Amino acid sequence: MIRLSKKREMGSMESYRGSVRLIFSGYFLLLAFASISVPRAQGWSKEGHILTCQIAQGLLEAEVVEAVKSLLPEYAEGDLSSLCTWPDQIRHWYKYRWTSPLHFINTPDGACSYVYSRDCHDQNGVKDMCVAGGIQNYTSQLSHYTEGTSESPYNLTEALLFLSHFVGDIHQPMHVGFTSDEGGNTIELRWFRHKSNLHHVWDREIILTALADYYDKDMSLLLQDIVANFTDGIWSDDVSSWKRCNNVQLRTCVNKYAVESIKLACEYGYEGVEAGQTLSDDYFNSRLPIVMKRIAQGGIRLAMILNRVFSDSQRGLALPI
Ligand SMILES: *[C@@H]1O[C@H](CO)[C@@H](O)[C@H](O)[C@H]1NC(C)=O
Ligand SMILES: *[C@@H]1O[C@H](CO)[C@@H](O)[C@H](O)[C@H]1NC(C)=O
Ligand SMILES: *[C@@H]1O[C@H](CO)[C@@H](O)[C@H](O)[C@H]1NC(C)=O
Ligand SMILES: [Zn+2]
Repeated sequence: MIRLSKKREMGSMESYRGSVRLIFSGYFLLLAFASISVPRAQGWSKEGHILTCQIAQGLLEAEVVEAVKSLLPEYAEGDLSSLCTWPDQIRHWYKYRWTSPLHFINTPDGACSYVYSRDCHDQNGVKDMCVAGGIQNYTSQLSHYTEGTSESPYNLTEALLFLSHFVGDIHQPMHVGFTSDEGGNTIELRWFRHKSNLHHVWDREIILTALADYYDKDMSLLLQDIVANFTDGIWSDDVSSWKRCNNVQLRTCVNKYAVESIKLACEYGYEGVEAGQTLSDDYFNSRLPIVMKRIAQGGIRLAMILNRVFSDSQRGLALPI
């Protein structure tokens, strides 16, 4: 990995021009980041979701690319990742408030385990209203795609966006966190020199710090690094096990993703953290590989689900759900 220097020389006129361009693009990047308000318990940040969906898109079969494109609005120009944050944008609208519980799972404090029948419900105990239930719901809606979108009682564009987003969310360890601290949201602390909370550290801070320190704030460089690591790098031997579940039922796969997340939340998320503390280099360096691996796993598994749902050759494999 390349560590890019943060300071740039500004000596000659030539490099001055370059610097102005850099400062400007950096400035707009900053503006873009600053303009996103961050309500509680969002799920992977914008960056995490975009990366997950970009990874998935690169792994789709040709006929699946077409199906995805046909469901996306025209202005997306076939780019699923451009709309993968949509469920976070609309969850606070009145019409979509009911979707909020679908972004996470609350598990019993300290249990470090996940059981669908015990944990997948909303605050009022309505069953299936959690991220695992959402993934199953929208996969099942999409599985009727080949019968024709007009035949479906559901909006399959929304189903595609919800599914793609929730597969990302379930891989963010703190999205399968403890109930009383709302997946780390109420654990306020500092990330290096600014205020944050434990949930947000996992949603976004670690990714942004990595982008700034190692990738010149360029998401495409980070994406390349992740893809290289699962195609021909540190994770290339693990991909087949990432795609495997004990049987072909989607429910089993989704359970596995949630169990992995709560285990990671306990082992790495909550571990050694107390409210009011400052998290910095030690925490960043030890947790960054986990965050990157979860993003890679989310992308690979989203591609697997979409390929099964939309391609004729693989139909039936993931179903019944
Ligand atoms: C499934 O999707 C439908 C349509 O969007 C929605 O009304 C229902 O609440 C969803 N249930 C879950 C568990 O996601
Ligand atoms: C499906 O949902 C999208 C996003 O909410 C909306 O723009 C579109 O008009 C809906 N399509 C139909 C046929 O209702
Ligand atoms: C990719 O793997 C290298 C080790 O080969 C590691 O240093 C780097 O952090 C990894 N990058 C990502 C994004 O996981
Ligand atoms: Zn979310």
